[in-house]
Amino acid sequence: MCGIVGYVGPKQSSSLLIEGLKRLEYRGYDSSGIAVNTPQGIKVGKAIGRVRVMEEFIQTTGVFEGHAGIAHTRWATHGGPTQANAHPHTGKTKTGHTIAIVHNGIIENYIPLRKYLTDKGHVFESETDAEVLAKLIAELYDGDLEKAVQSALRDVRGAYAIAVLCDNEPHTIVAARKGSPLIVGIADSAYVVASDASAIIAHTSQVITLDDYQVVRLCAGVKDKVGDGGPWAVDFRTTTIDNVCVTQEVTKLEFDLEQIELGGYKHFMFKEIMEQPEAIRNCLRGRIDHREGRVVLGGLSGLARDLVRARRFIISAQGTAYHAGMIGEYLLEDLAKIPARCEYASEFRYRNPIIEEGTVAIAVSQSGETADTLAALHEAKDRGAISLGVVNSVGSTISRETDAGVYLHVGPEIGVASTKAFVGQVAVLTLISLYLGKRRFLSDEVVRSYLKQLEALPDMVSRVLEQSDHIKKCVEQCIDRDNWLFLGRGYNYPVAIEGALKLKEISYIHAEGMPAAEMKHGPIALIDKGMPVVFVATKGSQYEKVISNIEEVRARGGRILAVATEGDDNIHQYADAVFTVPDIAEPLQPMLTVVPLQILAYHAAVLRGHDVDKPRNLAKSVTVE
Ligand code: AGP
Ligand code: GLU
Repeated sequence: MCGIVGYVGPKQSSSLLIEGLKRLEYRGYDSSGIAVNTPQGIKVGKAIGRVRVMEEFIQTTGVFEGHAGIAHTRWATHGGPTQANAHPHTGKTKTGHTIAIVHNGIIENYIPLRKYLTDKGHVFESETDAEVLAKLIAELYDGDLEKAVQSALRDVRGAYAIAVLCDNEPHTIVAARKGSPLIVGIADSAYVVASDASAIIAHTSQVITLDDYQVVRLCAGVKDKVGDGGPWAVDFRTTTIDNVCVTQEVTKLEFDLEQIELGGYKHFMFKEIMEQPEAIRNCLRGRIDHREGRVVLGGLSGLARDLVRARRFIISAQGTAYHAGMIGEYLLEDLAKIPARCEYASEFRYRNPIIEEGTVAIAVSQSGETADTLAALHEAKDRGAISLGVVNSVGSTISRETDAGVYLHVGPEIGVASTKAFVGQVAVLTLISLYLGKRRFLSDEVVRSYLKQLEALPDMVSRVLEQSDHIKKCVEQCIDRDNWLFLGRGYNYPVAIEGALKLKEISYIHAEGMPAAEMKHGPIALIDKGMPVVFVATKGSQYEKVISNIEEVRARGGRILAVATEGDDNIHQYADAVFTVPDIAEPLQPMLTVVPLQILAYHAAVLRGHDVDKPRNLAKSVTVE
């Protein structure tokens, strides 16, 4: 979804806001805008397209000087990506003051509110739901911005993260959230409020994370007067929308600026693909006890008994996280011998699901903010399920609303196409399955064998990464093809679907993943001469069956690209291109077999000239339904 950033403090806000937006741009980038409380009043600048377009625009339109400002990168939900629909949106108060707002989320009752405000004389300039909030706060403003925001939010239904300015309170920002993320950075003499920590870490690592229905008022200014000169003092207050004071714990961000920089890579996605060996090490660190031959997951210790005796696991997620959840389904049944099922969160939440005694719900999410996944979690919890989070973003909403969880610890993932987080999600689901399997029916010998192979996994991934140039050459030979198939069996069936999604979302080539056997039940009709068909054909229980499926495709002229096990001399007679992975137990294969598919998608997108890190129409975290 979109990105919000606000700054109030001794520095000029505009350049800091632009810098913050650039760090958030991966979250959504239809248009962007900025509003600064200048001595001449609130000044607003907006532009369609990337943040740099808006930056150039405000540089030409004069000085945006002021100590308090807010800014926004938009991912449109209501009204197209136009100048008028770009945020910030403004409203006029009865006393002639100006309110400016940036908003992430959806105001579900914006239509009746828009009518009410129009009848009150407010003139709307955009098609967005967000503008309704600006005008509602303006309508309710009577000299106290915090109170006007609280009052307006009591009338609103839907999801929001907002930051608000008023020219009558030049060194104040009021921010609030419900259903969309918002955190506040507390620096020595300034505050930064943002959708996520990547826009804050350059200023401070001390943050507070707002909960739903909470409002924060951020004030900064020189002790005896507002303006320049003298030491700056800051003061913040957190309340509910009913003006009940609440105390929020200050926590420390776990990563640093370097981790969110490109570090010499051309794209974040490729950086994050190449980081996967280190990401896996970080994910596994402290969680494998080779001496005792067991998995250590401190976050689950309070629930260990309930989890070991669970009657069913329901995993819910979207997109790539859903594909990781599909692998989790196989792992839990295979290693822990507990029935498991992975569901699209967006379907689960509306399906009136049956949750019986002993059900454990697992929410899998990189951002920890995906609206459908959060809603599915609430649905399961409300019906009595124990809830676990498998999340990357520390302190995110899902991580705070589950009974327990296991963080990925793969570091911030900036590329919109998820790569290292997928491998981290599968690694954590593997650890959970071994954690339970050890307490149930897995022998000590089998557990130790898996733990030993997990430890070797990072170096194995490094060997796969060395094939990047080879994979690129193979992609070049098919780059003109607009339809691909991805096929796999068993643990590698979800990998095939994930590979198809990667190709789709960054190269815009149509691709479909499915169980290899399913291809015969219709999709085989798609095969024409030279159609690229990617098979995950590693050594395992269904290898011979996959070879048969490869033969069926070859017989119809398809071009075979195979992910195979190192040393498999048999595959070369069937495949036009072979990418190899080291031999490893089947349940651990997905963390290897997905890597060539990530690299394949990356090179296809670059060869097609697309913006790999900011694919069209996409956003990093979908915090609306
Ligand atoms: C993955 O490449 C996509 N960007 C998308 O499918 C993503 O996995 C999905 O939106 C779920 O996001 P989450 O893991 O943050 O919940
Ligand atoms: N719903 C608002 C709009 O369409 C906010 C979208 C966003 O979160 O970027 O402008």
